[in-house]
Amino acid sequence: MKKIAVLTSGGDVPGLNACIRAVVRSALYHGMEVCGVQHGFEGLIHGEFVQMNGSSVSNIIHLGGTILKSSRSEQFKTKEGRKKAYKNLKREKIEAAIVIGGDGSLQGARKFAEEYDIPFIGIPKTIDNDISGTDVAIGFDTALNTAMQAIDKIRDTAESHNRVFVVEVMGRDSGYIAYGAGLAGGAEAILVPESNADLSHLENTLQQGWGREKSSLIIVVAEGDQTGGAQEVSELIKKHMPGRYIGICILGHTQRGGSPTSADRILAARLGVAAIRALRDGKKNVMVGMVKGEIAITPLKKIKRHHLKLNKEVLGLLEELSS
Ligand code: F6P
Repeated sequence: MKKIAVLTSGGDVPGLNACIRAVVRSALYHGMEVCGVQHGFEGLIHGEFVQMNGSSVSNIIHLGGTILKSSRSEQFKTKEGRKKAYKNLKREKIEAAIVIGGDGSLQGARKFAEEYDIPFIGIPKTIDNDISGTDVAIGFDTALNTAMQAIDKIRDTAESHNRVFVVEVMGRDSGYIAYGAGLAGGAEAILVPESNADLSHLENTLQQGWGREKSSLIIVVAEGDQTGGAQEVSELIKKHMPGRYIGICILGHTQRGGSPTSADRILAARLGVAAIRALRDGKKNVMVGMVKGEIAITPLKKIKRHHLKLNKEVLGLLEELSS
């Protein structure tokens, strides 16, 4: 394999730059030429290629965002879009592409792989952590820590004024950030899309907390929860706690930015190098993931969304710790 491309696709996450660096350095180490594709699949369609060398990825390991830029490409979902992408790859004599993306992007890579003879290797990234074939995706750990730190800060002010706060976190219809940040931030209640919110239980928890003279109460809600989010939860609580100050805080895209944690940098390095190794081993159309601390290789066609498992241990933990 002489020449490969690398691109980042979908919503940005912290750790993308660390992963681009790993892919580029590892490919160069093995004597390959590397082309960066700007703006993800859109750049493949419009032929936005940049030559990468060792210094193109110097001093980026700690940076959020993506030096290659990203996009959510509607065109790549069409046959015509993928045909244009293929022609551009052929013209540039690119023999394989590394796609650092979430579930949607990896599905796009799978479709391309079914139609054309240029192998794609996927690397999972998403703050939602909802991709099968890996225990954790790049960006999740940083987003989780950002949300936890925000909860810590809200607790300071909630505590000073004896207030209730509802904190809404991202995750689309996945509850990983809400569950993790709520647990790590000591929230009194956590609402995730994977379970039906028991609102009378929530009310009891809050009333009991208040009855025991807790000086602040924090509820973490995932943006995709059935209740609708922070605004709706605060309206519901207001009905049961009239006169009480109920603040809301929607963390939004702050969770997508910032310097990646060490865990995300290490994951990005391991998966980036594993992607090049997979190519050199002749693997085609697979995703490299991390399962129980080891590199795991899964065919792209087997990759699907996966969700937080609310087993007895997890539910019992929440019940006991918020009591
Ligand atoms: O999938 C990642 C994610 O950050 C979700 O948690 C969120 O719902 C969505 O992307 C936001 O997308 P956009 O940045 O396109 O508004």
